[in-house]
Formats: sequence, structure tokens, C-alpha cells
Amino acid sequence: MEPVNSVIAATGRIYQDTCIRDSVIGADAVISDRAVILSSDIGEKVEIGRDCSVIHSSISAGTFLGKSSVMKFTKVGKYCDLSWQLSIGGSNHNYKAACMYTDTWWKKIFGVGDGLAPVDETEYTVIGNDVWMGSKANVVRGVTVGDGAVIGASALVLEDIPPYAIAVGCPARVIKYRFDAETVERLLHLRWWDWEIETIRAAADCLRGDLTEEKLERLEQFARER
Ligand SMILES: CC(C)(COP(=O)(O)OP(=O)(O)OC[C@H]1O[C@@H](n2cnc3c(N)ncnc32)[C@H](O)[C@@H]1OP(=O)(O)O)[C@@H](O)C(=O)NCCC(=O)NCCS
Repeated sequence: MEPVNSVIAATGRIYQDTCIRDSVIGADAVISDRAVILSSDIGEKVEIGRDCSVIHSSISAGTFLGKSSVMKFTKVGKYCDLSWQLSIGGSNHNYKAACMYTDTWWKKIFGVGDGLAPVDETEYTVIGNDVWMGSKANVVRGVTVGDGAVIGASALVLEDIPPYAIAVGCPARVIKYRFDAETVERLLHLRWWDWEIETIRAAADCLRGDLTEEKLERLEQFARER
């Protein structure tokens, strides 16, 4: 389907049977087959996998969202690797009502109401920068996952996860951190994800492979000299 009311960068690649409405698709972004993008801002070099739905969300540069993932009312940082079959930003139904139908189904099945679920524009799920999420994780509406955090496969994230924490399980609990507290502070201070692409490329050797004190010091030098 042709994008409706959307701005697509000239170098954005839109594959087959997608549905894009009221959205912005950045330079070199990839929207794979059958993805649905509604009222969302997709940054440059972002890749959205097959059969994903991204609704009322923004995804910053260089982030990857794996196939068959659903994301609603979420703001995602840069250079995240978000695996497949994720559920991010799903909201609760009012289980105190006698019937679990949402406004959409009341309208469709019984013709009652306007069918428009109330849009709460104040509550977003926030995913930081450099986050890795394992497959089938579920991050509920309103939670913040800090920069550099790791979410294990099939985790159910109900509470905020601190930067650089590794959280697993149902409900998700922090089991450890990627680095010691001082290293985490230094990495958070660097904010390498905000560097120009050329600087990140030049620093690649220090960002890849196990982090050492020498690599961290060289990264701090890159930060000073950029
Ligand atoms: C979270 C993860 C990165 C942790 O890896 P790790 O550091 O090697 O962790 P360990 O194997 O040392 O496990 C530490 C503990 O956490 C538990 N654990 C690890 N991953 C878990 C998960 N996803 N869910 C529940 N518990 C988990 C382990 O059983 C272990 O528990 P124990 O101390 O009681 O024995 C990894 O297990 C994971 O979930 N990776 C995601 C893989 C994936 O989905 N890839 C998709 C492609 S991107």
C-alpha cells in the first residue's frame, strides 16, 4: 500500500505490503515486508523487521527491531539491537469493568461508542541507547529501560531497569551489570551514541570486543578530541 500522509526520505527503503500512515521515515531506513508504521518517527538507518507494528512511537538512528515485534507509545534511543517477537509498550485493559472488550470492539461488534480508544499521550515506554533485548521480551507501558541495559529472552519487564543492568525473568529482575559502577559512570558520561558517525567508526576497535581499561581511556580521548 502507498504510504499515506507520510514523509519518506529518498533513500528510505520500503518493502512489499507495508502500511505506513502519518509517519516520517528517515534516510537509509528499512521498512520490511508487511510492517505497519502508524503515527511514528523512524530515524535514519533504522531497520524494522518483517511483520512488525510500530504505533505512536519514535525510534532513533541505527536501531534494529526484529521481525514480528509490536511497539506502541514508545521512545527508543540510538543503536539498540531489539530482537524478534517483542512486545513493547502494551497497555492494560480496565479489568474492573464487567466486560474486557476495549472501545474498538464495542464499536465493531455492538455499534456502541466511537470505537476510539482514549489516547494517553503522557505515558510512554522509554528504551535508552545501546540496549540489547532478547527475543520474546515484553516491556509494559510506562517503563524506562536505561542506556546500555540488557533484557533477557522472554523477560517480562514491569519496572524501570537501570543503565547497563542485565535483567531476566518473569517478572524481570536485575541479576548483574555489564560493568562495575565506575565503568558504567564513565560510559554514561561518554554518551558515545551521540558522536558523529565518523568518530564512532574511528573508535570501532574500542567499542567492539571486551572492554578494557585501555579501550575506555582511548574512548575518553576520542570524546575529548571530537
Ligand atoms: C540475559 C543473557 C544475556 C544472560 O546471559 P549470561 O550472562 O551468559 O547469563 P548466565 O547464563 O550466566 O545466567 C545467569 C543466571 O540468569 C539466568 N538466566 C539467564 N538468562 C535468562 C533468561 N533469559 N531468563 C531467565 N533466566 C535467565 C540463568 O539461569 C542463571 O541463573 P542461576 O544463576 O540461578 O543459575 C542471556 O541469557 C539471554 O537471555 N540472551 C538473549 C538471547 C536472545 O534472545 N537472542 C536473540 C538474538 S538477539
